[in-house]
Amino acid sequence: MKIEYDKEKCIGCGACVAVCPDNWEMKDIKAHPKKTESDLDCNKEAASACPVQCIHIKE
Ligand code: F3S
Repeated sequence: MKIEYDKEKCIGCGACVAVCPDNWEMKDIKAHPKKTESDLDCNKEAASACPVQCIHIKE
């Protein structure tokens, strides 16, 4: 599983951090993945919660 994250598109809404704090945190008003390999379900929730779809999960 690989997480692709388009930081340019992130509007800093914080939904990813709310649903998956294990892997997402806010840094300088943008989301920041703590690691690129981690719990799939948690990151899938973050991807679907993001209003601008800038998180993509490759299985
Ligand atoms: Fe950014 Fe989407 Fe998270 S806009 S803060 S990656 S929910």
